[in-house]
This record gives sequence, C-alpha cells and structure tokens, in this order.
Amino acid sequence: MELRDFAVLDETLLREIGRLRVAAWETETSRAAEMDIWLDEFDRSARHWVVFCEGMPVAAARLSVHASLAEVPDAESYADVFTQPPPAPIASLNRLVVHPSARGAGLSKRLDRIRLDAAEAMGCRSAILSTASGPRRIRQLLGWGFELAGYGPRFEKPPLCYLPAPAVLLCRLPRTNANRRTQSSLALKAA
Ligand SMILES: CC(C)(COP(=O)(O)OP(=O)(O)OC[C@H]1O[C@@H](n2cnc3c(N)ncnc32)[C@H](O)[C@@H]1OP(=O)(O)O)[C@@H](O)C(=O)NCCC(=O)NCCS
Repeated sequence: MELRDFAVLDETLLREIGRLRVAAWETETSRAAEMDIWLDEFDRSARHWVVFCEGMPVAAARLSVHASLAEVPDAESYADVFTQPPPAPIASLNRLVVHPSARGAGLSKRLDRIRLDAAEAMGCRSAILSTASGPRRIRQLLGWGFELAGYGPRFEKPPLCYLPAPAVLLCRLPRTNANRRTQSSLALKAA
C-alpha cells in the first residue's frame, strides 16, 4: 500500500475517488448505490490523501482550510452546535473512506493523523468534522484529541442525508502535549 498527498487531483483520479466514496458508503446506507459518483465543489481546491493498492485507490480523505464556519463543506450540519465559533483558520476534515476490502488495517487512523499533522503545519487553529458514521467513529476521534461539541441537523445532500443527524467534533490546534501522548500511545497500540 502506498499513501500519497495531492495538492490537486487530476480528473481521472478525482472520478475514481468519487466512485470509491460511493462504494464505501454503500455499507452504511444502501441508498448510496443510487449515486454513480460522489464529488462536490470543494474537491478541486482541497488537499487530498489517497492510499493505493496495486495502483487502485482503496482509501481517501480530504482537508480544506477556511476563514469561517459559514464557508466549510456541509456547513448546514454544524448549525447551532458551537456556542463559540471554532478558532480560524479552520481545517475541515471530510470524505474519509476506506474500501470494504481494505478495512481494519489502520488506514483511517493514518489518514486522520496525517490530516491533523498537516492542519497544524498549515497554521490552523482548529480542526472540525461532522460525522454520521456512528459511535465507533466518535470514540476513535476522541482518542485523537477531538471533543464532541454536540449533534447537528441532518446533512442536506445524498448519501449522508439518509443517515442520522451527525455528531460534530472539534480539535483545538496546535494540540497539547497530553493529546499528542494519547495519540502516540494509540498509534503504538495499533502498530
Ligand atoms: C469508518 C472507516 C473509515 C474505518 O476505516 P478502517 O480503515 O477500517 O479503520 P481502521 O482500521 O483505521 O480503524 C478501525 C477502527 O475504526 C473504528 N471505526 C470507526 N468507525 C467505524 C465504522 N463505521 N465501522 C467500523 N469501524 C469503525 C473501529 O472501532 C476500529 O477501532 P479500534 O481499532 O479501536 O478497534 C470505514 O469503515 C469506512 O470507510 N466507512 C464508511 C465511510 C465512513 O463512515 N467514513 C467516516 C466518515 S467520518
């Protein structure tokens, strides 16, 4: 497996990632299969990390940086959750997917940690995400230094609109030494 970092994705790879997203979400909602491809307006400007196995993308995740909460992807899913706006620049973590055939090998952990490291290196003051993925995903993120801010309104667009209201999580950046220690010990456990 090879993990690569892309400042820009070419159209062919972008379309492969769009199809990978559908395949990954089909295990969470059968209605994902109604879409051929899942891309949005942020994909061409965001930074992407892609894991390849024998030349095929099997996992991917995205990071985009924003000056305010109103500008982030899926902004509707954060409405009225934060009592104070997350400190800017805000890193928005989105579209983490691992193909069913590649799950359980620690790829989501790698993609979370690499995006938090990148957000910190880019000078972001917070990282946020909203996830309808469920309690195991929330537990995983709490281990990386995220705090659960609350639950937002449902996503507006497919396939996420078919899932329950999302949990909203925030990680303050730069991370504290305590957070880093938790992450390293989890990484050692996972190795
Ligand atoms: C969630 C997902 C990315 C996990 O990928 P993965 O590479 O198998 O995850 P890893 O091997 O790195 O880690 C497995 C851990 O993830 C946790 N996890 C979090 N969400 C999970 C989910 N929906 N299904 C299975 N495991 C999940 C497991 O509890 C496990 O934790 P443990 O190691 O402490 O036992 C993958 O199942 C997926 O693509 N699901 C569909 C899309 C999705 O939910 N994306 C997340 C959006 S925030």
